[in-house]
Amino acid sequence: MSKILVAYFSRTGNTKMVAESIHQALDGDRTLWPIDKAGSLDDFDLIFIGFPVQSHSVPYPVEQFLKSLPAGMKIALFSTHGAFPQHPMAQEALEYAAVLTGHCRLLGTFHCRGKLSLPALEAFAHSPEHQEWTNMVPSAASHPDTHDLAEAGIFARHMKARSAESGEPSRIKTGRS
Ligand SMILES: Cc1cc2nc3c(=O)[nH]c(=O)nc-3n(C[C@H](O)[C@H](O)[C@H](O)COP(=O)(O)O)c2cc1C
Repeated sequence: MSKILVAYFSRTGNTKMVAESIHQALDGDRTLWPIDKAGSLDDFDLIFIGFPVQSHSVPYPVEQFLKSLPAGMKIALFSTHGAFPQHPMAQEALEYAAVLTGHCRLLGTFHCRGKLSLPALEAFAHSPEHQEWTNMVPSAASHPDTHDLAEAGIFARHMKARSAESGEPSRIKTGRS
């Protein structure tokens, strides 16, 4: 039976909510870890990794985590962001994360909106480089909502099925077997 890890980074809880929905939607042997508490990754067959978009990119601890993933590991990436879901800004960090995980087998990605706290919005509102996405943020106030979380669950099951179809991990296990 496959072992699945859902690892996430979350500052204000949005990405954590999505990670919990993914974890809940999966049955069988699965583990939910914040990235900073993650243990050995060698025994997992599929790893979901979630993060909030920060300054158009991947938060630094997530960048480090992505780079440290075992080669050939099957992964699925998810993110939350303030920008409109169809806007290129909603995708740019996931695209960068895909580049960082070029040594892994990326099975798919999911993203949804996440609210920004009022103090954070006020702090960014006057900064020109953040203006474009902060202009979109007010309509993210109710996200992630029940629809987002249900979609995350569908994504989780789809990734698990795709992982099973794609056979054994091609990676070489470096830890316990
Ligand atoms: C420091 C900071 C930078 C952010 N930068 C962006 C950004 O570039 N683009 C965007 O769409 N959202 C941005 N956001 C919004 C977050 O991605 C969004 O609120 C996310 O859901 C937060 O997730 P969390 O609660 O898991 O930390 C930023 C938020 C913060 C606090």
